[in-house]
Amino acid sequence: MNSPYGTRWLAVCIVVAALAAIGGADVPVASVIGNASQDTALNDDSAHERILWLRAEIARHDDLYFKKAAPEISDAAYDALKRELVVLEQAHPEFAQNSVLGDDRSGRFLTYRHRVRMLGLDKSYTEAELRTFHGRHEKQLNHADLVYVVEPKYDGVAISVTYENGRLVRAVTRGNGTEGDDVTANVRTIRSLATELRATDTDGSANPIPDIVELRGEIYVSFAEFGRINRDQEEQGSEPFAHPRNLAAGTLKLTNPEEVAQRKLEIVFYGWGAWESAQGEPASQRELHTLIRAWGLPGLEHIKLASGADELWMAVQALGRERSRFGFPTDGAVVKLDAADLWEALGASDQSSRWAVAFKFAPARVRTQVRSITLQVGRTGVLTPVAELEPVVLGGSTVSRALLHNREWIAQHDIRVDDAVFLEKAGEIIPQLAGVDTAARPATSKPYEFPSECPECRTPVESLTGEAAVRCSNHSCPAQVRRRVEHFASKACVDIDGLGPAMVEKLVAKGWVKDIADLYRLRREDLLTLGGNVDKSTDRLLAAIERSKRVELWRFINGLGIPRVGAAKAKQLAAKFGSLEALAAVRAVDPTAGIDSAAAESVLEFLSDPRNRMMVKDLVRLGVEPKKQSAASPD
Ligand code: IVH
Repeated sequence: MNSPYGTRWLAVCIVVAALAAIGGADVPVASVIGNASQDTALNDDSAHERILWLRAEIARHDDLYFKKAAPEISDAAYDALKRELVVLEQAHPEFAQNSVLGDDRSGRFLTYRHRVRMLGLDKSYTEAELRTFHGRHEKQLNHADLVYVVEPKYDGVAISVTYENGRLVRAVTRGNGTEGDDVTANVRTIRSLATELRATDTDGSANPIPDIVELRGEIYVSFAEFGRINRDQEEQGSEPFAHPRNLAAGTLKLTNPEEVAQRKLEIVFYGWGAWESAQGEPASQRELHTLIRAWGLPGLEHIKLASGADELWMAVQALGRERSRFGFPTDGAVVKLDAADLWEALGASDQSSRWAVAFKFAPARVRTQVRSITLQVGRTGVLTPVAELEPVVLGGSTVSRALLHNREWIAQHDIRVDDAVFLEKAGEIIPQLAGVDTAARPATSKPYEFPSECPECRTPVESLTGEAAVRCSNHSCPAQVRRRVEHFASKACVDIDGLGPAMVEKLVAKGWVKDIADLYRLRREDLLTLGGNVDKSTDRLLAAIERSKRVELWRFINGLGIPRVGAAKAKQLAAKFGSLEALAAVRAVDPTAGIDSAAAESVLEFLSDPRNRMMVKDLVRLGVEPKKQSAASPD
């Protein structure tokens, strides 16, 4: 390792080394989680060099995260970079100006200056750090039994929503803390967000309404909505989101509020910036929570109270245990002094408040081994590499596979067969490789060579310009055919009972099914030769196929597997064309007539392949006659 930190850094915990390695860092690995003091021994030149590199690296990851919605490193690795920067800047204040501690401005929105700067939180990872936090307060405030509010740290995107005389006027992202993106139109689509604060409480009492208030909160996506959208993404052949936070961040930065409204963003409030009111600010964090609910706004759930260090630690641990049952993502607890009059006495640093601290829960993480790397062939021919792992229990379930995204990703992170790897669960759901234990790699290990042929049909693989994906270009590749038929027969499409992956595999292997239309050409006498208890199941399957001829048109269109056309766009197309014949005949689409231009383009591209146009015509000839859209909403 070519490190300006010298050999003592070789002792740095391997997890951190691995985390930085997965970030593709070509600069020395020296981030330390939970150890802040060693950097002070650096000479000025190397410290300055490291600070500059850290700033550039953090800015690069901000860009990947906020602007491209394609993060390369885990949160823990990102936090480690930021933490190292803070420590180095504290030790070398001469280099600390113009620090880049995150900036989410995307350049696609007007920017707006916060009335009061949006600060971040210092982070803690251990019981000892929490006790130090409490001890410092006790000493500084000369106060025993300090009361804390312990809140879940919602894992989404920070937002500041301004109400003037009770009316929502603006919603702005954190940006660089001083100035953020004005995303008001997008935030207005959030159904649980009141545009008008409730002036009278349910019991008839009056709620004080400030002249101006900047409410601070978090926009997030629930696990249920994350699952729904990712299922849709997969159906449309698009990459799933890796974490609910990426989905929230990506959605909030869409420039079309109608698209934002199709995804169910949620919001909660936990603080304030400016507060201009004759009655003054809330006297405590508890009072703020009460007021937020009284105004009819969504407040935090699962808040705890604690007095003194022992109770504080117990409350944080309890939250850590409970959070696996929450329906929304959290990555820690936020500990806040309850009494607002104490906040000022503690002051704030340039980046964070001193009266609050985040306690970060470690993500579920295990070490295992890559047995092999296989390729999964998608229905459009995209070849997705998958790490086949030594099975291991992670966050309550056994994991034996993890997606490796694409060829570039494997090369960038240098993942190899037989590597010992660290596995994390993103958003508590999807297992992801978070690092390679490169120190455990045998000397004989070789970089992974991406196959040059499709594993199924041996067609040379193709990479399209501008796309990270590698494809098998053979439209008749049996694996692609199987995926297309499985998709067509799935519940979200024409729903053919009895046509699961095992049956599809048999039909394709026999050569009876080469495309979707062939399903309607299947002959009873052929199916009877498949063996097993065939009489009954053959008749059931044929009846289910027959029934599928009359499903709703949008289900059929969804089943055709047109790239980027999922259920929502299929509904638009069904409403527009009304029949398969009309769809098969289409030569041009007027994008203004009820369907968006992306869907129109996808349809034309799909039909420009004569095999697809022929298949749709064949379906019509074979008696497929989906039900016309009813006048009522197809939902
Ligand atoms: S308080 C001075 N409370 O965590 C207080 N933040 O830097 C500032 N977050 O992105 C924040 N849940 O948006 C606070 N209950 C909570 C929170 C919370 C999530 C986010 C916040 C920011 C990060 C802290």
